[in-house]
Amino acid sequence: MRHLMSPLDFSPQELNELFDLATDMEQNPEKYQDSCKRKILATCFYEPSTRTRLSFEAAMLKLGGNVIGFSDAASSSASKGESVSDTIQIISSYADICAMRHPKEGAPMVASSISSIPVINAGDGGHQHPTQTLTDLLTIRSLKGRLDNFTIGLCGDLKFGRTVHSLIHALMRYPNIQFVFISPDELKIPDYLVDLLREKNIPYKEVIKLDDVLPSLDLLYMTRVQKERFFNEEDYVRLKDFYILNKEKMKLAKEDMLILHPLPRVNEISVEVDEDPRAAYFKQVQYGVYVRMALIYTLLNKTSKEVL
Ligand code: NCD
Repeated sequence: MRHLMSPLDFSPQELNELFDLATDMEQNPEKYQDSCKRKILATCFYEPSTRTRLSFEAAMLKLGGNVIGFSDAASSSASKGESVSDTIQIISSYADICAMRHPKEGAPMVASSISSIPVINAGDGGHQHPTQTLTDLLTIRSLKGRLDNFTIGLCGDLKFGRTVHSLIHALMRYPNIQFVFISPDELKIPDYLVDLLREKNIPYKEVIKLDDVLPSLDLLYMTRVQKERFFNEEDYVRLKDFYILNKEKMKLAKEDMLILHPLPRVNEISVEVDEDPRAAYFKQVQYGVYVRMALIYTLLNKTSKEVL
């Protein structure tokens, strides 16, 4: 049985196959409409979510399956003190697969170690968010036609942003990727990621000003400042509007640069940018459903490495 904890759990070859399947699901939805009939997905969300939970649920319904779950720790037995390990053992008796989001780093991993059904990490604290990364990669592959040879700028909260951490891990495995990290000093990417890039000789630079690097980017990954992970409100208020991408700034960008964002957006992308053909963040949301369909289908139907 396989789980998904990190984007590195799948090899680049396996990811390619997963993306091919997601693309086939996009083009031929009727072929898969009963492929998970009578299967149940449990969404166990101990932290707020709109896209991730609903896209998991939409994905399962499009595969002909059913969905149960909770969207708030307060409405689950966690509020009575039940451990994640106990909860997953209960869920295993009700469902065939589980997507779990938790504020504590490593909680889905703990669940997977005891679970008798596949567990998908749907975001654990500031650590990882592998299904957002699958979404990001499928979006890039579909709109750019490749996952190699580009310069990507990651902008905003690189310290707490788990989508950024997962995406960096995943992209490190593709040839000729240059990373440009754009953040205020307080929100720089964690040292362990810098060390990893150095170890692997992958080119990266860290800058504070977006305007200086915008013309060089093929992809710009914007993120919101992660309010819920700050220790004090004052720091958040000071940093929350550090970057605002607007029409004027977009004049500096390449004509075919893609703007990605895991969403939710707060102020970091002005709504006037939404009509720019380079804005890909709402398309990303749609790819998120197809890739989760492919993931659920794969984890339910295939149990070992060789058959992804
Ligand atoms: C992200 C998350 O939860 O980490 N949202 C999402 O799942 N698309 C990004 C965020 O909350 O900023």
